[in-house]
Amino acid sequence: MGKIISITNQKGGVGKTTTAINIAASLAVAEKSVLLVDLDPQGNATSGCGVDIKALNTSIYDAFTGNRNIRDLVLSTELKHFKLVPANIDLIGAEIELIDHEYREHVLHKAIGKLREDFDFIILDCPPSLGLLTINALTAADSVIIPVQCEYFAMEGLSQILKTIDLVQNSLNKDLFIEGILLTMFDSRNNLSHQVADEIRGHFKEIVFNSVIPRNVSLGEAPSHGKPIILYNINSRGAQSYLELALEVVKNDKKGTR
Ligand SMILES: Nc1ncnc2c1ncn2[C@@H]1O[C@H](COP(=O)(O)OP(=O)(O)O)[C@@H](O)[C@H]1O
Ligand SMILES: [Mg+2]
Repeated sequence: MGKIISITNQKGGVGKTTTAINIAASLAVAEKSVLLVDLDPQGNATSGCGVDIKALNTSIYDAFTGNRNIRDLVLSTELKHFKLVPANIDLIGAEIELIDHEYREHVLHKAIGKLREDFDFIILDCPPSLGLLTINALTAADSVIIPVQCEYFAMEGLSQILKTIDLVQNSLNKDLFIEGILLTMFDSRNNLSHQVADEIRGHFKEIVFNSVIPRNVSLGEAPSHGKPIILYNINSRGAQSYLELALEVVKNDKKGTR
């Protein structure tokens, strides 16, 4: 039975999509079978995997409407063990159509259950909001990774997402747990980066991953080539940090919940 991990933070630009693509690819090169599900109508995870979002015939939207079995929506990527369910702008419609749905928070959970036995890990890339798509992800997931950019308002954003996770745990998904808080875009030459990282570690202790993702030019460039970082520049610090993170996630998995 695969583990479902949601990559969630209501703030945009904190490194959710970069983390989703690269954790998925890093797990896949460690011989884990991985599915990345793009849940953002912007489709950044989809195009970052080299898939043309304008040419899609089907997408995760079709799973939300119930038009298609989610199994029929799975695409291959350049890496053998790394599959993708893509998204595009159609997904905006799902957010609206779900409002009248009887089990509107559970639609993804129901759809994705069928895929659990096919994969070791299913990674969900959330949109930058706490709307119904994100709530569906948190309801479907076993755990959450919260990427936090090492910058000034990081703590404010964190307390909001933690409140939401708490609400979901109290109602929709009582087994949901925090896989880890991930420090992203860390700039070792910048005092603020150190201050924010220290503050978050001081406060959240062992919930914070040991791995830290540095600000790294190759990580910013890779999506425009439609490649995860390990296929674009394996020697970069960005690639190495995501490989390390993947190992931490695998170890967590062995330990069970933390
Ligand atoms: N560690 C990093 N170093 C350099 N650029 C990064 C890094 N992480 C993300 N980026 C870039 O920052 C932007 C926002 O990242 P993204 O992963 O799309 O965030 P989100 O999905 O949370 O909106 C993108 O252009 C991405 O390529
Ligand atoms: Mg994104």
